[in-house]
Amino acid sequence: MAAVQISELRAHVGDTVTLRGWVVTTRSSGKIAFAVVRDGSGYVQGVLSKNEVPEATWDAFGSLTQETSVTLTGAVREEPRSPGGVELAVTELEVVGPSVDYPISPKEHGTTYLFEHRHLWLRTRRQAAIARVRHEVEQAIRDYFYQEGFTLVDTPILTGAIGEEAGNLFATDYFDLGKAYLAQTGQLYVEAAAAAFGKVYCFGPTFRAEKSKTRRHLTEFWMVEPEVAFNDSDANMRLQESFVSYIVARVLDRRKEELKELERDTAPLERVQPPFPRISYTDAVARLNGLGSDMTWGTDLGGDDETLLAKDYDRPVLVYNYPKEVKAFYMKENPADPRTVLNNDCLAPEGYGEIIGGSQREDDYDKLLARIHQQGLDPERYRWYLDLRKYGTFVHAGFGLGLERTVAWIAGIPHIREAIAFPRQIHRLYP
Ligand code: 4AD
Ligand code: MG
Repeated sequence: MAAVQISELRAHVGDTVTLRGWVVTTRSSGKIAFAVVRDGSGYVQGVLSKNEVPEATWDAFGSLTQETSVTLTGAVREEPRSPGGVELAVTELEVVGPSVDYPISPKEHGTTYLFEHRHLWLRTRRQAAIARVRHEVEQAIRDYFYQEGFTLVDTPILTGAIGEEAGNLFATDYFDLGKAYLAQTGQLYVEAAAAAFGKVYCFGPTFRAEKSKTRRHLTEFWMVEPEVAFNDSDANMRLQESFVSYIVARVLDRRKEELKELERDTAPLERVQPPFPRISYTDAVARLNGLGSDMTWGTDLGGDDETLLAKDYDRPVLVYNYPKEVKAFYMKENPADPRTVLNNDCLAPEGYGEIIGGSQREDDYDKLLARIHQQGLDPERYRWYLDLRKYGTFVHAGFGLGLERTVAWIAGIPHIREAIAFPRQIHRLYP
């Protein structure tokens, strides 16, 4: 008999079926025993009556332990009180792989312990719900750009040019060519691709040797980066509103079960609709000072400042035109105030902080070269990037949305390390 998935059981009421999975919990009341089994598609309760099965089956059932892998055969019957609306009247049971002293019990474990057992912890309901929210966000990202006519361009992970800043690079020896760096961003490459295809994006892992242990930083995280020819900073912000709203709406629509499992209050998510409020960096500093922050003009917003500022809004807020000195070399100088650049960050509400960094790009050859020199970067490594300003330069803009921060916000989880299956942090390389 072909095995069925638990998610398909409703269509099999009255049939005898076989399914395979892992034991989640067991209990017994003398003559009747129960086991909840999980197969990845769902959960179902198997029920066994002592006087309806051979003694060996009863005994085997009685000795099942948490996470034993099993094959169960039985009749599917309607059971309105159970979550899937059905249960399985088990008649045959085969233990595929025993599980002795499973390290994660239903009791509370500390976070460190759980992350050391991340490979097993992934099996729990809450972690599965987070993973499915992430899966939906990734699919929404791809669908959005596909529908909007963007071309996906995969960018290299081993790079010769520093993408963002020298401070947090992972470097490796690259044959006879000196140092190669793990990509901090795919941006420089999608800028080149934008001149070929107009609207493009890349989506992949990026790396930063972040020494900070905050709930917003990983050393390896996924970033999606659209880049659009002839978009200025204003059009770039409109794209962000539309994109972020689409992602949130998709999760609200298709991952209700998971959001419920996560006990996520969906009211703040329902409000995520364009237009997003906008505030200039300069006004933000004044407002923050009014709210008690002692930050001064010319420094970047810290995590606490972002949280404080975002509290004033009921949806994500776009903060634009930061001081040139705190931002990357490629951002376009603001013609109206050359101390600033035509960039923006998008801050998520509810204390999640920056989920997007974006900007219009410097399209003037001489200004870009000067910035490269100023930041102590090697112009030779940027020759190809400067070429884009030499052969048909063009106004263009793009942004990077951090996947884990976005998932953490939408799922309502406190720390981004739970938003990726196997997080990489300064002190964590296993599992
Ligand atoms: O603001 P960032 O550094 O921007 C860029 O890398 C640009 N090249 C993007 C572009 O314009 N194409 O990073 C973009 C986003 C941040 O807003 C944040 O969501 C995420 O990437 N991010 C991180 N996420 C987790 N851990 C880290 N260490 C992160 N650093 C950035
Ligand atoms: Mg940033």
